[in-house]
Amino acid sequence: QAREPDLIENAAEITSLADARSAVQGCQRCPLYEHATQAVFGEGPQHADVMFVGEQPGDQEDLAGKPFIGPAGKVLDAAVEKVGIDRSRVYVTNAVKHFKFEPRGKRRIHQRPDGGEVQACKFWLNLEIGFVKPKVIVALGATAATSLLGRTATIGKLRGAPITMDDGTILFVTNHPSYLLRIPDLEGKAREQAKFEDDLILVREAIA
Ligand code: URA
Repeated sequence: QAREPDLIENAAEITSLADARSAVQGCQRCPLYEHATQAVFGEGPQHADVMFVGEQPGDQEDLAGKPFIGPAGKVLDAAVEKVGIDRSRVYVTNAVKHFKFEPRGKRRIHQRPDGGEVQACKFWLNLEIGFVKPKVIVALGATAATSLLGRTATIGKLRGAPITMDDGTILFVTNHPSYLLRIPDLEGKAREQAKFEDDLILVREAIA
């Protein structure tokens, strides 16, 4: 939904990652702020070498105000540790900063953000990329890949090889860790877990 320019956070006044982190709490660039608890900005060292970009905060992230602290975050943390990527070089964030959900009884069921929401929130992701200046960005899942590439992206076709973005940053695309959590059969899960780890090994090598 379009907003009056004077209601939009003044981009010129955002001169640091800390400014962006505080300004995002006033974001009304799309309607998702209306029902979410808070905006969830990225976390990690200011000059991290690698930035992982997920889809949007989940239920736990929305309540805590921190990205990737729930089940998907645990899968990501374990894989990062297993392949030997130094956590102190990692910044984690999301393509969309507010949790989109549908209330069902006491539960809040995740809903995928639409193209307009992803586009609106690219403002914040661009600021994070601009201030952190990671060498490597990892898109976790199709929403992040679509946001970063600016076109509809298919994980299967893009994973496994670096993509050089316009500003020279290297992009890798892989599955979202919550995809691994949803695979019902153990064999399939193990296979996808191994592919996910293989993708992260490419990331480790790219920042070595
Ligand atoms: N899933 C995401 O994409 N991001 C989070 O922060 C948590 C779960």
